[in-house]
Amino acid sequence: MRLTGSWDDTYAELDRKYIVQTSALPIERCLQMTTDPGDLVLDPTCGSGTTAYVAEQWGRRWITIDTSRVSLALARARIMGARYPYYLLADSKDGQQKEAEITRTAPSSKQTTNNIRYGFVYDRVPHITLKSIANNSEIDVIWDKYQLELEPLREALNNEIKKSWNEWDIPREAEEKWSDKAKELHKKWWDKRILRQKEADASIAAKAEFEYLYDKPYEDNKKVRVAGPFTVESLSPHRALTVGADDELIDPANKKAEFEDEQDFVHIILENLKTAGVQQAHKEDKINFISLTPWPGDLVCAEAKYIDEKDSEKRAAIFIGPEFGTVSRPDLVSAAREAADAAFDVLIACAFNYDAHSTEFEKLGRVPVLKARMNADLHMADDLKNTGKGNLFVIFGEPDIDLLNAENGQIQVKINGVDVFHPNTGEVLSDGAEGIACWFIDTDYNEESFFVRHAYFLGANDPYKSLKTTLKAEINQEAWDTLNSDISRPFDKPKNGRIAVKVINHLGDEVMKVYRV
Ligand SMILES: C[S@@+](CC[C@H](N)C(=O)[O-])C[C@H]1O[C@@H](n2cnc3c(N)ncnc32)[C@H](O)[C@@H]1O
Repeated sequence: MRLTGSWDDTYAELDRKYIVQTSALPIERCLQMTTDPGDLVLDPTCGSGTTAYVAEQWGRRWITIDTSRVSLALARARIMGARYPYYLLADSKDGQQKEAEITRTAPSSKQTTNNIRYGFVYDRVPHITLKSIANNSEIDVIWDKYQLELEPLREALNNEIKKSWNEWDIPREAEEKWSDKAKELHKKWWDKRILRQKEADASIAAKAEFEYLYDKPYEDNKKVRVAGPFTVESLSPHRALTVGADDELIDPANKKAEFEDEQDFVHIILENLKTAGVQQAHKEDKINFISLTPWPGDLVCAEAKYIDEKDSEKRAAIFIGPEFGTVSRPDLVSAAREAADAAFDVLIACAFNYDAHSTEFEKLGRVPVLKARMNADLHMADDLKNTGKGNLFVIFGEPDIDLLNAENGQIQVKINGVDVFHPNTGEVLSDGAEGIACWFIDTDYNEESFFVRHAYFLGANDPYKSLKTTLKAEINQEAWDTLNSDISRPFDKPKNGRIAVKVINHLGDEVMKVYRV
C-alpha cells in the first residue's frame, strides 16, 4: 500500500531559542495521536522544553528532564512566559452550551466539574450518508417552514410574468425584459430558496455521524490561559565515590587528574571573584577586594581583603561550594568555625545553590556568614571573559518578615524587605520592600519542594502594566490588588509547623527562608 501519511510540513524551528530546538508541530501531532487531555507525557531529554510547552497547550500533564542547566533554564522561562488559547472544556457549562449548539440538541443538564479528562469540545466533520438524510425528520420541518414563504412569492411571480412555473421551472437568472417588480420577486424567491438549502444542509451535517477533529477544539476568545503551576527540581547534593575494577574504593587523594580539575575550578572562581567583587542589592554596598590570596584551610580556600568606610582593612574568609551540587548547612557551619578560629572578620561563601537549612544560618559568634550566589555563567568559566562586569557573585539578603495573627487562628505574613549586609559598617540591616519584585509563600513547607501557594508582586517597575502587556489582556483590578501587596492573605497555620518564603528581586536573584510557626 502506498503510504500517504508522510509529514512533509514539519520543518525545523526557524525562530530557535535553543540550537537543537524541535519544531512544535511534530510533537503536537505525536501527542494528539497518543494521548488524551489529562494524560501524562514524559520527555527525558527536553532541551528547550518544546514537549512541555505543547503539553501545557493541549491540557496534558508533563514531566521533562535534561542534564543541561542551560536547557532547563530555557524550558522554565519558555513555559512561564507562554500564553495559550482557552479551549472549551466538555465538562463545563460553556462546553455543554457549545455542544448543544453544534448538535442542535438541548444543552445537557449533567453536573459539571471542569475536569479536563473529559476533553474539549471539538470541531468535527460529518460523514453524510443517504441513510442519515432519510432518517433526518428535521429536514421536513425546515422544508415546511420555508414553503410558507416561498409559495406566495412563486404565485406572485407567475402572476406578474403570466406563467405557471413550478418551483423547478424558475430560472436562476431573471430575464432582461421583466418588470422591476418581477425581478424583485424573483430575487426574493431565490434568496429564500438558498437559505432553505443552507439550513437543510446544516441539519444534515448536524445529525449525521461524524468524526472529531481532536486538533481543533473550540476556543473561548475572551479568555487567555497561562501555564499551570509546575516545579523545577534538581538532584539533592550527592557525592560520587569511584570504584576500581575489583570494586575497591579509589582513594580520592590518588585521583590526581580529578583533583586537578577541582583545583582548576576553584582557581577560576577565585580569579573571577577578585575582579568582579561581590554584588549586593545596592551599588554602594558592593564589596571590592584589594587582595585575594590562597589560604591553606580545610574549607576556607582564600583570604580576601577590603577596606571599610573607616579606612580600616577587613579580612574575609572565602569558601567556595562544589562545582555541581548544593552547599548544606553543616558545610557552612564548619567553614564559619574555621573563619572564626583564624580571626577573620566575615565569611563569604560562594556557591551555585544552598540548601534550605543554610538560609537560617547567618552568623557564628561575631562572624557574619554571607551567602553569595554564583551566576550559572561561571560553569563556563574557562570561556568566560574575566571583565569584572557581570553580576557573578551576588548576595541577596535574608527576607525580613513579621508573622501576624489573623482571625480564626489563621496567620498572615508581612514582608518588610530583605536584610542586607553593609560592608562599610559590618552591620546587617533590613532594606525596604521596594527592592522586591515578587514574593511567594509555601504555607505548608515540606522541607523538600517549594510550592508556590501564595504569590505577590511588588516593585517600582509597575508590574501591573508589564503583566498586562505580556498577557495582552485586561486584568481584573480587584484581583490584582490582592496580589500587589506586602501583606499576605490570611492562611491556616502549617500542619507540619513550617512555612517558607521566597523573595525575588528585579535582577532575578532569589532567596528562600524557612520559618517555624
Ligand atoms: C535534541 S535536544 C532536545 C531538543 C528538544 N526537543 C527541544 O525542542 O528543544 C537533546 C537534549 O538532550 C539532553 N541530554 C543529553 N543526554 C542526556 C541525558 N543522559 N539525560 C538527560 N538529558 C540528556 C541534551 O542536554 C539536550 O538538551
